[in-house]
Amino acid sequence: MIRKFQGLNQKDSDLKKQFDQDGLLVIEDAISKDDCKALKDQISAIVDGMDIDNNQSVFDTITRDQESDSYFLNSSNNISFFLESGALDEQGNLQIPKERALNKVGHALHRLDPVFSEFCGRPEFTRLMKLLGMAKPLALQSMYIFKHPQIGGEVVCHQDSSYLWTEPQSCIGLWFAVEDATVDNGCMWGIPGAHTEASPRSRLQRTKTDRTVTELTVFDDTQWGVAESVPLEVPAGSMIALHGQFPHLSGPNTSDQPRDAFALHFVDDACHYPDDNWLERVD
Ligand code: FE2
Repeated sequence: MIRKFQGLNQKDSDLKKQFDQDGLLVIEDAISKDDCKALKDQISAIVDGMDIDNNQSVFDTITRDQESDSYFLNSSNNISFFLESGALDEQGNLQIPKERALNKVGHALHRLDPVFSEFCGRPEFTRLMKLLGMAKPLALQSMYIFKHPQIGGEVVCHQDSSYLWTEPQSCIGLWFAVEDATVDNGCMWGIPGAHTEASPRSRLQRTKTDRTVTELTVFDDTQWGVAESVPLEVPAGSMIALHGQFPHLSGPNTSDQPRDAFALHFVDDACHYPDDNWLERVD
């Protein structure tokens, strides 16, 4: 049974102990309902202004089509739009309204959008990163994740450090539920305590011969014991802090309820950040 905290104002040692033990923290009421509405309203405004004809990259963790996609690579310094697989027909025409076709928007909302920037810069998040072990917390990646009713697809089991590599490893993700997240609408699942292996099982990096191409190197192809994973059902306003090596996944949204979430990833700027990471740092 995962312990759930109520609010961010907790005893430091309790948070650190739980995070070290499970590889995650579940904190309900970490942000307000007004915060959720502000994030949702802002992403709606951004999507309203989206030029769909020039934003046709599909995000699919099963086929990993995005790995050779320059649009994906350039998104480290942009507000870019990723569609659900199946949203386009063979001619590249959208089959459903763009508002329902998006998988996510990222990956620099925290730097380029005023509302998301204010939210991501809150001192309580930096403070939590320090409490969990970072010397110099650096917000590096942000994404607003849709999981539209009946359309939002699954995300396969992965570790975030595979995609934001530092030496030593330091990535921590903050995942905010903008809507209630349930088993039916595709909440996150994870394997508590499975974050303690010596290193991530895989790594996505730019190839040495061509920086516009990435490849996933698998160091350990053992399948995650997905049957050991537990659902992380949380109400809107909750935050889940994820150790970079915490294995997690989510199922498709089979309900008629949206499951919007916002994810912000930090790394420790005191660690080395190799320049063959897919995400290019802007200093
Ligand atoms: Fe993830």
